[in-house]
Amino acid sequence: MEKIETIGAMQQLARKWLLEGHTIAVVPTMGALHQGHLSLIDLARQHADKVVATIFVNPTQFGPNEDFDGYPRNSEADELQLQAHLTDALFMPTSKEMYPDGFETRVELTRLPLHLCGMRREGHFVGVTTVVLKLFNAVQPQLAVFGEKDYQQLMIVRKMVRDLNLPVEIIAGPTVRAEDGLAMSSRNRYLDIHERKAAISIYQALVRARQLVNSGTVDTIILRQAMTEIIEQAGANVDYVAVIHPESLEELNVVGAKAHAAIAAFVGRTRLIDNIRLKD
Ligand code: PAJ
Repeated sequence: MEKIETIGAMQQLARKWLLEGHTIAVVPTMGALHQGHLSLIDLARQHADKVVATIFVNPTQFGPNEDFDGYPRNSEADELQLQAHLTDALFMPTSKEMYPDGFETRVELTRLPLHLCGMRREGHFVGVTTVVLKLFNAVQPQLAVFGEKDYQQLMIVRKMVRDLNLPVEIIAGPTVRAEDGLAMSSRNRYLDIHERKAAISIYQALVRARQLVNSGTVDTIILRQAMTEIIEQAGANVDYVAVIHPESLEELNVVGAKAHAAIAAFVGRTRLIDNIRLKD
């Protein structure tokens, strides 16, 4: 696996591969890799013959009171896992490389971030879209793989690609879960034993919503109440519970032909998110 730290070197390698006729897929990450990330690497491999993982804990997508400083960083373990999954290159730029002095450009969507996490994490998605576009420009991929776990992020990246005519196909990977249903997340490392137990309630709430929909409930007030109750009974705190249209991300009053449920909850001080398809 090639390890690359500068944008120039990454672009050079990409140009060489493209001239040789290879297809390149990128899997952007912030490291602290787990099975969820690795499933995206494997999915990328099914679609391209060169797979590039990126690890960059992007400061611009963290708010002032968020966990940028404490975000888990474990590059040795990450490298070993990427090697085991036959990743061709790891692009690991420094903050200075990505945001040199004088950096001032932002990539901003105006509508999709006005929902869910976008309403609670000011500036978060501007940070995400700006860094993802920069990573695409460094890696020059034809394909990029993102997880459904971060559903709003996936939809926002897809929309950016469409709006800006980027020649990149976005592929979605299903959410990888622990045996008890908890969605894998780098932030699960923050949880103590008790919090780890309480965290299961997020997935249990989503499953309950799906059961209610399957048995005919369409009123989203009832769905939201049921989800909130399960989370609060477990001792976690709801940031939001929402039933949304999976494309516009707008909240629904009534479950129609398409609906998704999305939750953000604080388990202790750790904010976790998850979502599930209710109907498509
Ligand atoms: P990070 O949280 O490290 O996630 C990297 C990718 O892994 C994202 O596409 C995310 O949706 C996916 N992922 C995380 N947990 C997953 C799980 N349990 N199952 C499947 N996929 C999962 O998301 C980011 O980093 C950043 O915002 C980034 C896109 C890299 C921009 O900085």
